[in-house]
Amino acid sequence: MLAQYGCVHCHAIPGVAMARGIFGPPLENIGKRVYLAGTLPNSPVNMMAWIRAPQTIKPGTAMLDLHVTETDARDMVAYLYRLR
Ligand code: HEC
Repeated sequence: MLAQYGCVHCHAIPGVAMARGIFGPPLENIGKRVYLAGTLPNSPVNMMAWIRAPQTIKPGTAMLDLHVTETDARDMVAYLYRLR
């Protein structure tokens, strides 16, 4: 799913084959980080919101709106928090 939406082109994600992108920050230890994208307090709810609409949260950010569904975003957040 992380590959399907193209997350892997920009992010390095442990456990996901081909996720070696270096355009965005690596997502290992993302569950331990205090802020997402430097602005958003890190919580599962905020991470879901970020993944679904980064341009709304931080207009002009280099991460594109990928039109991730709510269900898919929830699964991604669950996976990413398990990486810590
Ligand atoms: C076009 C490249 C690109 C794609 C595709 C992309 N991202 Fe990002 N992502 C970024 C960039 C750049 C940032 C840093 C944004 C900022 O700080 O303004 C970021 C930030 C993040 C963050 C916060 C990381 C941190 O250290 O604060 C998460 C979580 C994240 N992306 C998850 C995802 C997921 C999940 C997907 C797939 C649905 C995805 N990204 C797709 C470029 C991308």
